[in-house]
Amino acid sequence: MVIGFCGSGSMAAAMARGWAGAADSMLFSDAGSGRAKALAEELGGEAVGNAEVAERADLVVLAVKPAKLDEVAPELQAARSLVSILAAVPVRRVSDAFPGAEVLRLMPNVGVEVRRGVLCVAGEASEATREKLELLGHVVELPDDDFDEATAVMSCAPAYLALAVEALADAGTAAGLDAELARELVIETTAGTAELLRIRHPADVRKAVASPGGSTEAGLEALDREGAREAFEAAVRASLERMRT
Ligand SMILES: NC(=O)c1ccc[n+]([C@@H]2O[C@H](COP(=O)([O-])OP(=O)(O)OC[C@H]3O[C@@H](n4cnc5c(N)ncnc54)[C@H](OP(=O)(O)O)[C@@H]3O)[C@@H](O)[C@H]2O)c1
Repeated sequence: MVIGFCGSGSMAAAMARGWAGAADSMLFSDAGSGRAKALAEELGGEAVGNAEVAERADLVVLAVKPAKLDEVAPELQAARSLVSILAAVPVRRVSDAFPGAEVLRLMPNVGVEVRRGVLCVAGEASEATREKLELLGHVVELPDDDFDEATAVMSCAPAYLALAVEALADAGTAAGLDAELARELVIETTAGTAELLRIRHPADVRKAVASPGGSTEAGLEALDREGAREAFEAAVRASLERMRT
C-alpha cells in the first residue's frame, strides 16, 4: 500500500514513523518548510506536491491544520481513500469536501510513533486500511459525535501525562537526585503503572500504594490540597473550548 501524507507536521511524522517498513512507499507534502523532504529522507519515501500525493497514494492521510481543509481539498480530489485526522472536523464535512473518495475520520495520539497509540475511528474502513491502522495501536470505533470529548482525553493527554512525568522528575531533582536518574526512575515507573492499569482500576492502584498513614497517602493529600484533579478537569474543559472556537 502506498501511503501519502498531505501535511508533514508532528502527527504525520508520528504516524509515518509507526508505519516505517510497513508501507510499500510513503509520500509527503508540506507548505514549503522542508519537513516533507526531511521525513522522506528519514523514513524512505518522496516529498511531492499535494496533487501527486492524491494521484499516487492508495491511502491519503489528511494531516494539515483543520483551517487548511478548504485550501488543500481542490488539490486532493484524485484521492480514492482518505483518512482525516483534523481535530473537531466532523466526518460529514470531510466527505462533502471529497465526494469521490472513501472517507474515514481518525483521531490518533502520538503513541502511534511506537505502535502503542490510541486511534479513534468513525466511518467504514476497508480491510486494508483497518489493518494498517491496527499496526499503530489500539483502534476504537466511535460515533462522530463523541470525537471532540475523546480527543480531549486521548489525543491531548500524552502532553498532560508528559507534564506529570516532567514535574515528578523535577521534584525528585529538587529533592537531591541526579536529574537523569530522576527521569529514568519516573519514566520506568510510568511504563509499569500503565501496564498495571490495563488490568487494575486506577482507584485500586492508588489504594494499593497508599497505605494508611504512609508517605504516599501524605503525597496524595497534598495533590488534593493543591487541586490536582481540578487542574486535569480544567485542562479537558479548556481543550474542548479551544476545539469549538
Ligand atoms: N499533534 C497532535 O498530537 C495531533 C493529534 C491528533 C490530531 N492532530 C491533527 O493533525 C493535524 C496536524 O497537526 P500537527 O500537530 O501535525 O500540525 P503541524 O505540526 O503544524 O503540521 C501541519 C502540516 O501541514 C502542512 N501544511 C500546511 N498547509 C499545507 C498545504 N497547503 N499543503 C500541504 N501541507 C500543508 C504544514 O506544512 P509546513 O511544514 O510547510 O508548515 C505542516 O507540515 C491537525 O489537523 C490536528 O488537529 C494532531
